[in-house]
Amino acid sequence: MSPEPLAVRTEGLRKNYGDTVALAGLDLEVPAGTVFGLLGPNGAGKTTAVRVLATLLRADSGHAEVAGFDVRSQAARVRSVIGLTGQYASVDELLTGRENLVMFARLYGLSPRDAHARSEELLGRFDLLAAADRRVSGYSGGMRRRLDLATGLIQRPDVLFLDEPTTGLDPRSRLRVWESVRGLVNAGTTVVLTTQYLEEADRLADHVAVIDHGRVIAEGTPDALRSRVGGDRLDVIVRDPADLGVVADLLGAALTAPVTVHHQDHRVGVPAADRLDVLTRAVRALEGSTATIVDIGVRRPGLDEVFLALTGHPSTEHDHADEVMAS
Ligand SMILES: Nc1ncnc2c1ncn2[C@@H]1O[C@H](COP(=O)(O)OP(=O)(O)O)[C@@H](O)[C@H]1O
Ligand SMILES: [Mg+2]
Repeated sequence: MSPEPLAVRTEGLRKNYGDTVALAGLDLEVPAGTVFGLLGPNGAGKTTAVRVLATLLRADSGHAEVAGFDVRSQAARVRSVIGLTGQYASVDELLTGRENLVMFARLYGLSPRDAHARSEELLGRFDLLAAADRRVSGYSGGMRRRLDLATGLIQRPDVLFLDEPTTGLDPRSRLRVWESVRGLVNAGTTVVLTTQYLEEADRLADHVAVIDHGRVIAEGTPDALRSRVGGDRLDVIVRDPADLGVVADLLGAALTAPVTVHHQDHRVGVPAADRLDVLTRAVRALEGSTATIVDIGVRRPGLDEVFLALTGHPSTEHDHADEVMAS
């Protein structure tokens, strides 16, 4: 046995949809027993990559293996060792949570007795016992997502693919899904997680590949990525989120670096390669303003700044935070 078996390996994966290049030579290596984050904005190629790995879609060229099995020539073997949870829940609205799990378990070939036992166990693990006998149509977004995660685990997969497991969830539901994912990893499952949430990669992933336009543009631990980009970040926190726009405009005019607004935490962030210079100019720029500044300071970069530095365009993080706030 090799010292570090790979759960996933891809080499030069390419996939076009007509004129659209979805995968442009994707190379990935995911060590078994880890959580691997595939990080990228909308349209980066994350779902396409997951669908190829889950044998739902054929790449145009290149090579991909899951748990040592070739996705093309050993697709059935691959399917027997994976679980998949999609971006959109696949559960049946008209059935209860328990009925959904039992139905999937029976589809996967479990006996009625085993299907019930497995469902009970998963309902408990995902904190759904109290809602088990209610129809899914009455579930919250977070409950649905946890049920969807549970269905992905019926077969006790070696490798679990989670495609944007928390997109669109409110912050509290995201925390619960994160807890569930961490629990899986403690049980030895390899998790390949796609996300647009930089904080999610930060919290869950041992290793991250940042993808943009269908190829990996950076890879490493979240911390290693940060130090590769270097540069600290200036944060200004305002009391009233209504002041965010004014502060962003003032900072934008005073500094050459791109300004990012984070509505959720009342924060405006700016890359601050030169700490003192940026801080001084920011303080001057804000001096005459009516906005109440709660805090201003230079901090270590988050993955959002890393992404911006790598790609030259901002990630969609704060857009999604807004969606979450609005829902
Ligand atoms: N079925 C499809 N037909 C045509 N274009 C598609 C299809 N699926 C994805 N694409 C395109 O391929 C690119 C990658 O999409 P996708 O893998 O869904 O990215 P992500 O999951 O990172 O948002 C995007 O430009 C998207 O518009
Ligand atoms: Mg997607």
